[in-house]
Amino acid sequence: MAVVVVEGAQWGDEGKGKITDYLASKADIVCRFQGGNNAGHTICFNGKKYALRSLPSGIFNENIVNVIADGVVLNPFMLIDEINEIRNSGFNNFKLLISNRCHLIMPYHLDLDGAYENLLSDKKIGTTKKGIGPCYIDKAARRGIRAGDLLELDFLKEKLNDTLIVKNLELKSLGLKTYDVDELYNKLVEISKVLGKYIADSQYFLNNAIKKGKNILFEGAQGIMLDIDRGTYPYVTSSSPSSNYVPQGAGISPKAIDEVVAICKAYTTRVGEGPFPTELFNDTAELIREKGHEYGTVTHRPRRVGYLDLVILKRNLEMSGATMIALTLFDVLSGIDDLKVCYKYELDGKEIDYIPASLNEYSRCKPIYKNFKSFTIEQDTKSYNDLSKEAKEYISYIEEMTGVKVKILSIGSDREKTLIL
Ligand code: GDP
Ligand code: IMO
Ligand code: MG
Repeated sequence: MAVVVVEGAQWGDEGKGKITDYLASKADIVCRFQGGNNAGHTICFNGKKYALRSLPSGIFNENIVNVIADGVVLNPFMLIDEINEIRNSGFNNFKLLISNRCHLIMPYHLDLDGAYENLLSDKKIGTTKKGIGPCYIDKAARRGIRAGDLLELDFLKEKLNDTLIVKNLELKSLGLKTYDVDELYNKLVEISKVLGKYIADSQYFLNNAIKKGKNILFEGAQGIMLDIDRGTYPYVTSSSPSSNYVPQGAGISPKAIDEVVAICKAYTTRVGEGPFPTELFNDTAELIREKGHEYGTVTHRPRRVGYLDLVILKRNLEMSGATMIALTLFDVLSGIDDLKVCYKYELDGKEIDYIPASLNEYSRCKPIYKNFKSFTIEQDTKSYNDLSKEAKEYISYIEEMTGVKVKILSIGSDREKTLIL
């Protein structure tokens, strides 16, 4: 096990929660290192389904320390709701550590997220409206409020006051309600009474754990196509979801990482706006959406659906140093007749095998497909050898084109429906 990163290799919702939960049986620590409660990670076991937003996917295992590290943006109000949900489901003995350096999503960040989207009207990004972008803006502008500030209440009011001078000006100019320092301060004092005991120095904790040889799982949120630098900018999130960001977001050495597990859905989905070359608008899309329950965990929006895109996977796996693929939702392709995989694009009459940085060019890219024979995945499939020749051909093609082996195959949402290849 050692130090393992789980990253989404497409546009999010690849099944990171399921695979993290599966791998977590051997972990001492599960750590989120970027993003926030824009994530919706689904975990199914003992016939029940749980949807996590900010909490790491090791939260159901009382032997695991769940860390929310420096690079995360955390909505403390929502975290308390999420903790209460977990407790109400009977999980009281969880272990949680919140980095004192992670930035807090404030109520005005949600207001601004909505307002920026409204201003863009038909050019909107389609954000989750959880205040993610506005919180990262304040972090970069060096006026953010950090979790550690909840432990220094004597200084918090002054910090809030400084921040609100700028934020209230902006809110007012957008015709939004402004915030009163005392009112917000009092709310944060209540928050600190609940969350204060979880806040500590997570860098220190993680580096000591690495020295002791602990098994650590870093759980990415979103997917590399939503990365602020690598994705379809500006139709991206405001953080970096790949293994490349783990050292920064968690404060560890890049040399500490032993394995990078790229979670790849057997087809492609996307929520929100932006280009998506292999997107389908036909009956096959409907069939996949229904079979795969492709509706957003956070916003319940129907996910856009398309064929598997190997141009994307090849680039993303190469760049993030993926050492294995976990191929998920493979069962959803069972019985799909018109099966194709994109291996190149055609751009203005030329074949290309890269992702153009220009959105105009990317929007003009037409997928070039290889056809695959339809296959069936039986419910009682227990091993790779049980798969049909046609199903194995689909897997082999992904391995051949990306140069990375599929070592985990997921054929159902439940923990049990996981094959090790
Ligand atoms: P995440 O954001 O990457 O954790 O993924 P989500 O939880 O948002 O979306 C993945 C969805 O697929 C969830 O509803 C999972 O329960 C479900 N899921 C995960 N793996 C499989 C699988 O192999 N087969 C099927 N049918 N569903 C899966
Ligand atoms: P998980 O971790 C899928 C998308 C939004 C929008 C863009 C920016 O469950 O895979 P944001 O609210 O982050 O500013 O929105 O990013 N997005 C996701 N799409 N899965 C996610 O998380 C996502 N988190 C953000 O739909 O297009
Ligand atoms: Mg999700």
